[in-house]
Amino acid sequence: MIRNVLLAAARSRAVRAAVEAGPFDPLVNRFVAGTTVDDALAAIRAITTDRLVTVDHLGEDTTDRARAEATVDAYRLLLQRLADGGLADRVEVSVKLSALGQALPVDADKIALESARQICEAAAAAGTTVTVDMEDHTTTDSTLGIVRDLRVDHPWVGAVLQAQLRRTEADCRDLAGPGSRVRLCKGAYDEPAAVAFTSRSEVDRSYVRCLKVLMAGEGLPMVATHDPRLIDIARFLAGHHGRSAARYELQMLYGVRPRAQSELAAEGLRVRVYLPYGTEWFGYFMRRLGERPANLAFFARSLLTR
Ligand code: FDA
Repeated sequence: MIRNVLLAAARSRAVRAAVEAGPFDPLVNRFVAGTTVDDALAAIRAITTDRLVTVDHLGEDTTDRARAEATVDAYRLLLQRLADGGLADRVEVSVKLSALGQALPVDADKIALESARQICEAAAAAGTTVTVDMEDHTTTDSTLGIVRDLRVDHPWVGAVLQAQLRRTEADCRDLAGPGSRVRLCKGAYDEPAAVAFTSRSEVDRSYVRCLKVLMAGEGLPMVATHDPRLIDIARFLAGHHGRSAARYELQMLYGVRPRAQSELAAEGLRVRVYLPYGTEWFGYFMRRLGERPANLAFFARSLLTR
């Protein structure tokens, strides 16, 4: 119930605009590395001592063409700074297509593809890769279509699949071929039962079925979860399929289980941290609060004790 309210707030343009217009709340810092590229680079430098990073310039549901273009410029600057700082071998970028034009009223897919292509070209020049985030189920076909188009020129472009969607096991089969990079997560959006599993146990079982397909496949599985049981299963399946530590990644969000991230990295596993930064942090932050009621209590307590 609380999760649904938070997820609805996350999609509300009015609430988002009001909250983001205020000062950057230090509490947000737990999940968001800051508002500027310099903030992001400082956090990246600390993490890359033992882990890899994928960095997200925050933004979503953009209905304004100029903002979509500004997002492309922000990624170009970020990628240039990563290259200049000698970080491109440990840091890639993640992008949301709805920040690049996918939610525009006219020519949405065409503009999102063109914008994503420009980011891929900047990433190639910097010497790194791009992974395309997955948003709610109404965008899945469009997003996978755009990933397919991008992969013609840039076969290293990664896709995200959400175990909560009933279609995802089949999507894993389609995407498990040579050279593919698939980030498997549970799914952060409130989805209807017609398209999604709604109980935790069903989502977890779907996650395991999808993992089996990806680990048996020929691509790079990117196991995006903080769930210790699923991480153990991923490690077991990797071993079962003869995958060395270099042939899959464990991925977690900035600010979530950081000690576990470092412990797994110390065991010699490839651990990548999804690190968001930027002024449009509200939707992302609300999804993080919704994932764990304790976060909400912590947030409320901190506000009350200021
Ligand atoms: P689950 O929610 O069951 O959490 C397992 C345990 O992890 C919890 O018990 C708790 O200890 C800890 N934990 C999880 N979330 C926490 C939080 N917010 N705060 C504190 N502790 C927390 N989703 C999506 O729809 N599209 C996408 O593109 C992506 N991209 C993405 C990239 C990466 C690298 C990750 C790790 C996740 C995503 N997600 C995502 C989010 C994902 O779908 C999911 O909502 C979260 O990862 C939480 O699910 P878990 O698998 O961690 O399990």
